[in-house]
Amino acid sequence: MAYAAFRSIGAYVPEKILTNEDLSTMVDTTDEWITKRTGIKERHIAAKDEYTSDLGVKAAQKAIERSGVALEDIDMIITATISPDYFCMPSTATIISTKLGLKNVTAFDISAACTGFVYILSIAKAFIESGMKKNVLIIGAEKLSAITDYTDRGTCILFGDGAGAAMICATDDKSEAIIDIHTGADGEYADLLMTPNGGSGSAHDALGEEANSCFMQMKGNETFKVAVRTLTKDVKEILAENNLVGDDIIHFVPHQANYRIIKAVGDALKLREEQVVLTVNKFGNTSGASIPMAINDIYENGKLKAGELMLLDAFGGGLTWGSALVPFSPNK
Ligand code: UT7
Repeated sequence: MAYAAFRSIGAYVPEKILTNEDLSTMVDTTDEWITKRTGIKERHIAAKDEYTSDLGVKAAQKAIERSGVALEDIDMIITATISPDYFCMPSTATIISTKLGLKNVTAFDISAACTGFVYILSIAKAFIESGMKKNVLIIGAEKLSAITDYTDRGTCILFGDGAGAAMICATDDKSEAIIDIHTGADGEYADLLMTPNGGSGSAHDALGEEANSCFMQMKGNETFKVAVRTLTKDVKEILAENNLVGDDIIHFVPHQANYRIIKAVGDALKLREEQVVLTVNKFGNTSGASIPMAINDIYENGKLKAGELMLLDAFGGGLTWGSALVPFSPNK
């Protein structure tokens, strides 16, 4: 049987930085409020002519190079994004595949908001274990600034742009394999976090002054509570089902939405500070890109070593959630 190995990681953030001080000149907020309530100090914002696919390509190039996999051997590419280059088609994954020069690939996007990376990891694992694909490039890429309302202080302080990518490859060696992945969804909570317009449920020509309803809207405090509850339950379950405890995890890599959510889940698992990966301070919430960007951060800082076990944990619009037990398995 083929197993799926997490071979490599890469990420990219655009140059421009938007600080809390900058935001305090745009909406009624302060650096103190944002820092205390979210842990965020700054986030990166893509240039006007820099699209989600451009961010994704730069992250993917690093992941491919670090994996040692030849371009012609990549047989599938999946992008997780809620800010695609084009709303309906073509998919951002197809654009990225062409910009990378990939031939003979299956390419598509998925929409699972901030849980997107865990979802595409589970799809890559399933395709590899079934024997249908061998080398799957997965990318979380977001230009959230394009769908953020910069007059809404409840959301614009949170979101940033960026991309992260990973190569997931077939292996015969079970010790390298992704151990387990949980994914879930509950549409009952769809209205907590949504972009109300711009989809097939809205009459585009009638939008007029309502055009800003194509931006993200969030019931922040309710989302916060469901996030802490769901994430804690989910990670406890995946650990128990695999006979693991918090101490077995070297790197807990949660979706980077809010420092307080991450701390609450980390405390519930009794994790030590050094186990918890935190990048929300410098990148804000980059939705589907946040987990691979965080993994890349520990990789580039020399903290992620071969064989070390990561616990990924995400939550987002849908609502969706997911967790994954993933050893880092670079090519030997
Ligand atoms: O990534 C996908 C999932 N998303 C999340 O997990 C995000 C979850 N939510 C959150 O991170 C937090 O709920 C927020 C950071 C969005 C908000 O923090 P909170 O502690 O839940 O604040 P709140 O919404 O309960 O608002 C508290 C107060 C309100 O004022 P009053 O009614 O008490 O007078 C808000 O109007 O803070 C006010 N407020 C702000 N004040 C200054 C809300 N946003 C701001 C702001 N600056 N930016």
